[in-house]
Amino acid sequence: MSIGIFDSGVGGLTVFKEISKTFPSADIYYLGDTARVPYGNKSKETIIRYSLECANYLVGFDIDILVVACNTASSYAINVLKDSLNIPVIGVINPGVQEAVKVTKNKKIGVIGTYGTIRSNSYKNRLEELGEYQVYQKACPLFVPIVEEGLMNHKITKLIIKEYLEDIVSKGIDTIILGCTHYPLLKDKIKEIYPSITIIDSSKATANYIKKLGFDLSGSGNRRIFITDESPAFENLKSSVVGSIKLEKIELSKICTL
Ligand code: DGL
Repeated sequence: MSIGIFDSGVGGLTVFKEISKTFPSADIYYLGDTARVPYGNKSKETIIRYSLECANYLVGFDIDILVVACNTASSYAINVLKDSLNIPVIGVINPGVQEAVKVTKNKKIGVIGTYGTIRSNSYKNRLEELGEYQVYQKACPLFVPIVEEGLMNHKITKLIIKEYLEDIVSKGIDTIILGCTHYPLLKDKIKEIYPSITIIDSSKATANYIKKLGFDLSGSGNRRIFITDESPAFENLKSSVVGSIKLEKIELSKICTL
């Protein structure tokens, strides 16, 4: 059985890594839309179009499940994807939310993500559907370039984390959802600054969620990673996140419908 995963770029490799660990023998195809990253500050219409194009490319590999690793795409395009594909489509919002409601004790939950994800209220709405949660959201746009530049341990990073998070932490949250593919790579730093807050990593939550759905994901353990443009950030992060799998560049015109 095979899984297709797409993201706007490199960050979704955090999801690829967790899914690879959880399903070692599944065949996994990853598409990082590096030519058009970031999605986080684009309009809903554009995000839906890009998402459909990425999904259709992966469907060409006869995938059995599609995982939308990108939080922004999960926020805006999940319903359109579910309606237009004949296979299960799993986004990262619901798994992260399910995990957060399990662990919070005071029902005060922080959500951080791109402008797009925060503006969509996707996490907030889902949490509020499940109960009386107080949700405090914050867009953290600088986190993406920090991770792409490999500055996780640089001294500016601590300052920027505090600048963004102080506000929502002061509301008394006991749990925070990392609602962006890149943020798991800042998890240790966030933990160091706010040790008492439980951090929900949507990439882990998504892999666990798929496991619980009980799909038979045995296969030959093939791994392929496609990108739509060259990207130095992708190369760097790929090596540190998933090791030596080779990158295959595809022409954007192969997936574009316009
Ligand atoms: N992959 C995006 C997300 O998880 C972050 C990067 C971007 O803005 O495209 O929302």
